[in-house]
Amino acid sequence: MKPIDGLKTPLQPALRNVALLLFGIAVLAAFDSRPGLQAQTLDAAAAGNVDDARIISSPATEPGSWLSYGQTYKEQRFSQLTQITPDNVGRLGLAWTREIGDYNMRMQGTPLVVDGVMYVSNGWSVVYALDARNGEEIWRYDPQVDRRSIRLACCGPAHNRGVAVYQGKVYVGTFDGRLIAIDAATGEEVWDIDTWIPAGLGRFNITGAPRAAAGKVYIGQGSGESGQRRGYVTAYDAETGEVAWRFFLVPGDPGLPFEHPEMEMAAQTWGGEWWKYGGGGTAWNSLVYDEEFNSLYIGVGNGAPWPREIRSPGGGDDLFLSTIVSVDVQTGRMNWYYQTTPGDNWDYSSAMDMTIGEIEFGGEMRKVLLQAPKNGFFYVLDRNDGELLRALPYTDGIDWATRVDMETGRPVENPDVLYEVKPQWIMPANSGAHNWEPQSWDNDLGLMYFYYHDIANFYSLDEGFVETGEYEIRERGLSLGWGEGDYRRRLIEQAGPRPDSQAFIGAFDPITGSYKWRHPLASEYNGGVVATRGGILFHPEGTGNFSVRDSDDGQLLWSFTAPGTFRSTSVMTYQVDATQYVATLMNGNRTLDLGGTVLVFKLDGDATMPVPEIVQTEVPEQPTTEFSPEAVREGDDLYHAQCASCHGGIGIPSETAIVAPDLRLMTLGTHNEMADIVLGGSRAQRGMPDFEDTLGSEQLEAIRAFIVNQARLLRDWQQERSQ
Ligand code: HEC
Repeated sequence: MKPIDGLKTPLQPALRNVALLLFGIAVLAAFDSRPGLQAQTLDAAAAGNVDDARIISSPATEPGSWLSYGQTYKEQRFSQLTQITPDNVGRLGLAWTREIGDYNMRMQGTPLVVDGVMYVSNGWSVVYALDARNGEEIWRYDPQVDRRSIRLACCGPAHNRGVAVYQGKVYVGTFDGRLIAIDAATGEEVWDIDTWIPAGLGRFNITGAPRAAAGKVYIGQGSGESGQRRGYVTAYDAETGEVAWRFFLVPGDPGLPFEHPEMEMAAQTWGGEWWKYGGGGTAWNSLVYDEEFNSLYIGVGNGAPWPREIRSPGGGDDLFLSTIVSVDVQTGRMNWYYQTTPGDNWDYSSAMDMTIGEIEFGGEMRKVLLQAPKNGFFYVLDRNDGELLRALPYTDGIDWATRVDMETGRPVENPDVLYEVKPQWIMPANSGAHNWEPQSWDNDLGLMYFYYHDIANFYSLDEGFVETGEYEIRERGLSLGWGEGDYRRRLIEQAGPRPDSQAFIGAFDPITGSYKWRHPLASEYNGGVVATRGGILFHPEGTGNFSVRDSDDGQLLWSFTAPGTFRSTSVMTYQVDATQYVATLMNGNRTLDLGGTVLVFKLDGDATMPVPEIVQTEVPEQPTTEFSPEAVREGDDLYHAQCASCHGGIGIPSETAIVAPDLRLMTLGTHNEMADIVLGGSRAQRGMPDFEDTLGSEQLEAIRAFIVNQARLLRDWQQERSQ
């Protein structure tokens, strides 16, 4: 498949300005009809006036601010605000809402609040500055992301976890791989840098929030599942955007000079010709700055492709996959590393949020780093040298390893759970027992509040590889567990039904490995949490309930039923003037034609949210064409390899959030347009990528055969049920 060239500048600069202008007019026109919009301006000298000292002192000096992704550099996400308490929480209500996206994006951002201004991004990396008291728009900046970058996404449509505000600028990483500095006062672009370099192999998405500290801005990349990928983190000068240093996370072709000495060391731990696949190791989420050690902790992602037998035959630990790497922020050289999953074989990852704090350990206060990565163990490391202090399971659902050996510091893999030998259901799944969804750390109590789930994934080697020993790198779906259609279905039939899934929220003590309390959740996928000094735990749930619990015992105190979901979202709390607010981002609802929305609550809030009418979901009239069983079968494989990651699996469980329409509900009109939509890219601007390079018209016809066949089955089932 062709790499995407020139992703960064889809339009010539002049054309782009015209497009921006037209877009601006369209936006103005759209906004004329909105009530309550007032033009506001920010003070050029004071806007975004955030620096290291301010972020570090903010919990004590301005507990109402949220200045950085994880609230402060420590990323504890524990708020000192006390206005909302278990006693008055019943008075919570909506303060304001603002739709900032459409339904075919995922809303994962953590809003920042600086001096009464909320800076928040949507799935397509559009940044909004809003009045934090009422949601009125001050400015917005649209990076005009190349929509074709959607084909590099591992897990459905565009998403973005937020911005950094620093020294008068707002920084955003874009879904097409750029890092952009915006003037915090005016919303105008200051610089726009392509973070992709050829040594990183294929192009990528950025979904993580940049972090800004020590005069620099730090960013990695995502797309570990799409094509060839070699992860790295770049530190840019915050003022000029010049590269200060770059740290690679996986070694390149050993026939070429290594970029830095750590790569020579890492190359010893790989086997085969890993560099042809790239190896993976993207830092797609967590980057944590520590002013006490002048270091940046990089949370490194999974191997690509997932099976080590394909990726690195005869290899070893495959550094720095699934590793926490400490890098000196001045020199860009490594201080230490700790690998949570040596020789990653399951898409486990250490890119999950990290928190830093202090813990009494063996009678001594230790400066620690805390992480609950996908693999099911909760790690406590000494920030000084990476020494492993604790690694106890935070879930009962761990099949792949029996424990972490404290002598060797390594997990003990379970010899009965080798999917290379026998394809099988394994927990945790590739989505992890805990993923990036933010956790909240009460440093006084030594408790981590977070949600996790026990979900199994069916792991097997790629069919083509099993049969021929060759592995084909695909642009999308460089995976094991999803998208292998009929092959996967046959294996699952042999292996038996999927083990039951469950999800929990709890208050975990990482030193004893026990929960102070733990409660089951209704939805398998949920949002991150924030606990407060007021004794409250805010938790957006996948069901669409925004829940508030007592942080002492986890009892549900209050909840709000939203018209969208909070699957993999985030939450934060802030105070402006005398009022404490709590803000979360809601994923849109396709059925309701409702877009991604910022929801903000306060005591005695009495705003309402307009909820559109429910759209019809009955199967419409279907084409009468007769399709051959072979076409249907081929279409099944193609559909699950190319389309299911967004449109959802049909007949097999979906591994990802379904964010695109159910194609069984296509009208005859849409059937007629299908070639335009799928091959011609006519809906590319709405998040439906074009497959011109991937599919021919016969293959598309096979996909159509499968969809129509499934639509007829669904219609029959609906009719039966209504009788
Ligand atoms: C990266 C996510 C993604 C992938 C992968 C994807 N789609 Fe889509 N698709 C979308 C989104 C989002 C929409 C809704 C666009 C809109 O709002 O018009 C959509 C819409 C469509 C529609 C229009 C449906 C309707 O009822 O309006 C068709 C047809 C379609 N996709 C076919 C396919 C096929 C066939 C494949 C696989 C070859 C595929 N898509 C893969 C995201 C995706």
